[in-house]
Amino acid sequence: MLDGKKIALYVTGGIAVYKAADLARSFIKEGAEVKVAMTKSAAQFVSPLTFQILTKNAVMTNTFEETEPEVVNHIHLADWADAAVIAPATANTIAKLANGLADNFVTSALLATTAPIFVVPAMNKNMYEHPATTNNLALLKERGAYIMNPDTGFLAEGYEGKGRFPEKERIVKELTGWLKQEQVSGPLSGKRVTVTAGGTKERIDPVRYITNDSSGKMGYRLAEAARDLGATVRLITASSLPVPNGMESVAVESAQDMYEAVSEAFDSTDVLIMAAAVSDYTPAKSSNQKIKKNTGNLIIEMAQTKDILKEMGQQKTDQFLIGFAAETQNIEEYAQRKLKEKNADMIVANDVSKEDAGFNVDTNEVHLYRKEGETIYLPLADKKEIAEKILQYAVEDMKKEG
Ligand code: CTP
Repeated sequence: MLDGKKIALYVTGGIAVYKAADLARSFIKEGAEVKVAMTKSAAQFVSPLTFQILTKNAVMTNTFEETEPEVVNHIHLADWADAAVIAPATANTIAKLANGLADNFVTSALLATTAPIFVVPAMNKNMYEHPATTNNLALLKERGAYIMNPDTGFLAEGYEGKGRFPEKERIVKELTGWLKQEQVSGPLSGKRVTVTAGGTKERIDPVRYITNDSSGKMGYRLAEAARDLGATVRLITASSLPVPNGMESVAVESAQDMYEAVSEAFDSTDVLIMAAAVSDYTPAKSSNQKIKKNTGNLIIEMAQTKDILKEMGQQKTDQFLIGFAAETQNIEEYAQRKLKEKNADMIVANDVSKEDAGFNVDTNEVHLYRKEGETIYLPLADKKEIAEKILQYAVEDMKKEG
């Protein structure tokens, strides 16, 4: 399953180091070449010699021990690898990576590598659940690393909890699946696709907000479909659904946050898919304190938000823009108007008054209004299928636009 893959296995210090030795063997059995780097604390648990004998490669532990004068070892390992696997990954190393520290061989190589990073956290339950660790892992995930879920079970500390090093079979399976995805080549290979998803939340005060019924499902399915066609995907999400594997994500709350995230990504975007239900209005003033009940009505003045799609339509150079139109009437007229007014290349229009289409359901039924082609009707289908078809037509139109 890992035929010909070059795996840099980074071993950091925890009791699960002894299991990493067996993991190295599994990688080799699956056809990979493995080179190991260890932290000093990892070497306290199992000798580097064990890994050296198993992998038939020298094990790196010291940044300043340069055995071959023609190469800088940590850069060499960083560049050599097709995949960087950190197993076990301690809370300490995870924290260093999240903050860009490079104070030993392992962290230096990991900062230098452009290979996909696969993290196998293993530690005490309380350390794993500490907000610092949770935040650090979320940050690594946001940057594109794959984070495995540790097993729950009997820990070395003598009690049950989440934090155990997973079975090697599960590690090999998840790594193989993920690498396959990372490598897919398809009509969107080399393209950077930015997808927005979910309904924005506009704060009235610290505990109240205005939002809409969008779940984010359509955007997520589009992000996955783009990934499967080979694109590098950035998902800008206002939804709380878990981010799919194999993509970068930016969590946002308000229309303004989303505008900023899209603007930042836009220069390096080839395709922008605005699947998010962006609020057109936001409270003109949001209160820092909870608003107290008073006699009489409460009037909230609403100010217009920026129309992200329209702004990007004005700024666009050669980006392909896909917008959505959620309508309850005059679908064709409104969709065609949005196509022109927002300078989009495609508008995916749906009738949100229908029960099986649009917000918060797994299916959709849409019309594609295209700058470069005739209108396409996509009958009721799973959102995954609809997403694949949308991208298929987008790829076709992009070819025409050159
Ligand atoms: N959109 C956006 N920024 C906004 C509002 C909408 O980028 N502030 C995007 C949506 O993501 C969608 C498209 O514009 O891709 C159409 O959104 P929709 O709400 O249907 O249309 P509006 O332009 O808001 O017009 P109206 O409310 O009149 O239908």
